[in-house]
Amino acid sequence: MKRSLMLIAAVLGSVAAGSAVAYDADWKRGRVYYRQICTSCHTAQMPKPIAPNDKVKADWAAYLQADKHAKGKETVKQYFGKPYRASIKATNQAAAKFAEVPDQDLLDDVKAFLQKGAKDGDAPASCS
Ligand code: HEC
Repeated sequence: MKRSLMLIAAVLGSVAAGSAVAYDADWKRGRVYYRQICTSCHTAQMPKPIAPNDKVKADWAAYLQADKHAKGKETVKQYFGKPYRASIKATNQAAAKFAEVPDQDLLDDVKAFLQKGAKDGDAPASCS
């Protein structure tokens, strides 16, 4: 009994230590960001917007890692940047709401949402 309690304490301790270092991504905020920042532009500029479940988890991870957007013409990271949010915040509620959030946190949030919403994710997500 005592031993298993110690084991539990050890596991909890390492979880706490891990979360102190790594940012705990918020997939729900990632969903809002993806829909209101990424999809709203795709809907305006493409015949069919890109749904999370258009790709598998590994493809989304590789896509964000490669950081090439619009057939490699530009980076995808720019759309997580404060300057981009500032440039659209007059007409985009999510950009206004998250104006001061660090870029990397939003990137991690969207990453988490795309892992969850991918074709092979826990909760495959379409655009709507
Ligand atoms: C200002 C408009 C705009 C925003 C914001 C935007 N995209 Fe795009 N995206 C496009 C356009 C336009 C294309 C199609 C480009 C083409 O086919 O030449 C595209 C294409 C893509 C593609 C298809 C592959 C590729 O890169 O060609 C993916 C995936 C993608 N965007 C992801 C994202 C993600 C993730 C975000 C948000 C972080 C985002 N986009 C934000 C306009 C935008």
